[in-house]
Amino acid sequence: MSSSPVLPTNPDEQSVPVLHSFEIERQNHSNLKGHRSLLLWFTGMSGAGKSSIANRVQANLHEHRLHTCLLDGDQLRRGLSVDLGFSDADRRENIRRTAEVGKLMVDAGVITLVCLISPFEQERRMARALFAPDDFIEIFVDAPLHVLEQRDPKGLYAKARQGLIKNFTGIDSPYERPVSPDIVIDSATCSIDQAAQIVEAFLQNRFAAS
Ligand code: ADX
Repeated sequence: MSSSPVLPTNPDEQSVPVLHSFEIERQNHSNLKGHRSLLLWFTGMSGAGKSSIANRVQANLHEHRLHTCLLDGDQLRRGLSVDLGFSDADRRENIRRTAEVGKLMVDAGVITLVCLISPFEQERRMARALFAPDDFIEIFVDAPLHVLEQRDPKGLYAKARQGLIKNFTGIDSPYERPVSPDIVIDSATCSIDQAAQIVEAFLQNRFAAS
């Protein structure tokens, strides 16, 4: 696997549109909202707790009158990515689309939370490469497979074990553990509230002055 992200490019160079220069930029949005924007990327296997933790973080940020948006895999796959399955190529495209939407949201001044299994390091790097270093926080929500199989809130691990679902992450499709995540949460030992506090403490430390 290559160490640098491979960003897709337009196959027809001639058709790349020239960008219009718009008056309202990210900084204008931030000024209006009174806070900076960034993207929180939650990665981890199904059932690890990504959505539950992101939900709690979002609710807490909202309570502080910060503007947020949550892009959740299960939801995206009912709309934006409804045409995609779980082959490696489809997951790659799902991650690409979500990262691009996330970038638009961050440019609009919104603190954006993304919850995707995003099982491959290369695609997570591709997502990160769209952002300035301080704008992308990778949060690895970790739990051992046996814990996830015990939880199995949607019954999907049981189905995957029976061969009823193919390419299931952790069973017959790989999950590559993040190489250098910004935050690691062990959701087997940590409550949702504690996990949210870890994320919020990280943000406070990192952005105390901004
Ligand atoms: S990703 O790999 O492309 O990032 P994504 O986060 O959008 O995955 O979707 C994962 C959700 O789809 C899981 O939470 C689970 O509910 C459901 N799902 C259905 N089939 C699979 C599968 N084969 N592998 C993983 N998740 C699946």
